[in-house]
Amino acid sequence: MPHSPLLIVILAAGKGVRMRSSLAKVLHGVGGRSMLGHVLATANEAGASKIALVVAPGQDKVRAEAAKAAPDVAIFEQTTQAGTADAVLAAAPAIAAHQGDTIVMFADTPLIRPQTLRDMIAVLDAGAAVSVLGFEPDDPTGYGRVLRDDSGAVTAIREQKDATEAERAVRLCNAGAMAFRVPQLLDLLQAIDNKNAASEFYLTDAVGLARQRGLPVRVAVGSVEDAMGVNSRVQLAEAEAVFQQRARIRAMEAGATLVAPETVWFSFDTRLGQDVTIEPNVVFGPGVTVEDEVTILANCHITGAVIRKGARVGPFTRLRPGADLGEGAHVGNFVEVKAAVLEKGAKANHLAYLGDGHIGADANIGAGTIFCNYDGFDKHRTIIGKGAFVGSNSALVAPVTIGDGAYVGSGSVITRNVEPDSLVVERAPLEVRPGWAAKYRQMKLRRKGRS
Ligand code: UD1
Ligand code: MG
Repeated sequence: MPHSPLLIVILAAGKGVRMRSSLAKVLHGVGGRSMLGHVLATANEAGASKIALVVAPGQDKVRAEAAKAAPDVAIFEQTTQAGTADAVLAAAPAIAAHQGDTIVMFADTPLIRPQTLRDMIAVLDAGAAVSVLGFEPDDPTGYGRVLRDDSGAVTAIREQKDATEAERAVRLCNAGAMAFRVPQLLDLLQAIDNKNAASEFYLTDAVGLARQRGLPVRVAVGSVEDAMGVNSRVQLAEAEAVFQQRARIRAMEAGATLVAPETVWFSFDTRLGQDVTIEPNVVFGPGVTVEDEVTILANCHITGAVIRKGARVGPFTRLRPGADLGEGAHVGNFVEVKAAVLEKGAKANHLAYLGDGHIGADANIGAGTIFCNYDGFDKHRTIIGKGAFVGSNSALVAPVTIGDGAYVGSGSVITRNVEPDSLVVERAPLEVRPGWAAKYRQMKLRRKGRS
């Protein structure tokens, strides 16, 4: 069924004092992305034709994050934080210009899913003019209660502060998101007053006003996870736990083996192929793609990297942004890779720093190799040809190129380019004096009078 255009108004102007942070609450991250970024993505995925975001004055970082996550978003400023209805009215121009359904949602509820918003629209399709998202938390303290009549129609949402004892006993709570199919929506919202315990303009009062106008209000019941609002760092960690749990299940359902799923941490955009095996204690920062049949051994930290088919990583590997491991490549313990490509079959199995470089197919990087990429001012590149062999404990001082098939002797400090198929060794001449140690010991013992 074709749907009417959908305006989604996202409220993010609240103070968020309980976070005790100089960073705006909605910029705190869950799964490697800000809460605001999550909610904007959800609004887009739910099919919003227009998104309006309401921020407080001076929230330049919030504006910047919104512009990054959803370039088309229209941003409005709520001058004073006088309540959720007042916040929605800050976006009045967007509401006035819109014909169709409107959803209001909160930027501090990062786990709400597109399907949940569609469920709210389905309640409108079934005949309601307003649908509210309800849920049943273990502890309803602090939430608005959803009050219903015998037919199941919503009669009011009562904020905790304004509720009677009997109303507080109601278990169904308001998650905050509301959907409207109300032609005169602005008119309805403007009728809301602030005669309540908090002297705030409550969006939830739209319910009672809608009923007075003969507009039916119904509830869409969602999961506790979807409704989880973040007001403190403890709740932020709870939201992270839910996010991770969802991500782990998604990864396993898509064909990855997680040996100890509870120890693997994903980002919102982690992409895993099939038959990927991930051992315990692996953290994926943003921007990671893992292709089919990759094995990631225990204790790796991976951000902004591509790991191609059949490659093996770890244990104890750090991949930083721009790391690109080719098919069947091996990167082993205590190897750090940054902005460097390892072509197919290249290997760096132990103890290396590979920063700003390109390593040809089947090249072998020995233990203790360092790409000296930084001179204190600029970064320089190290290029290693295909099939080259870099002996252990070599320092390659960039910019430098090691030709295809060349050999670097162990312990060398390489400061000049090396031709293909050459041997390069930079090493003080080796001196061996047979019997020297024994004579030295005898002489010392004699002088101390011990022989
Ligand atoms: C709100 C609901 C409550 C619900 C709960 C769910 C109202 C009146 N109450 O209460 O029924 O159970 O959410 O978590 O709606 N905001 C602004 N400007 C303001 C005030 C708030 O933009 O002037 C934004 C906040 O940034 C936040 C959202 O609106 O994203 C909700 O505000 P908050 O103060 O957290 O409302 P609750 O007291 O949690
Ligand atoms: Mg809240």
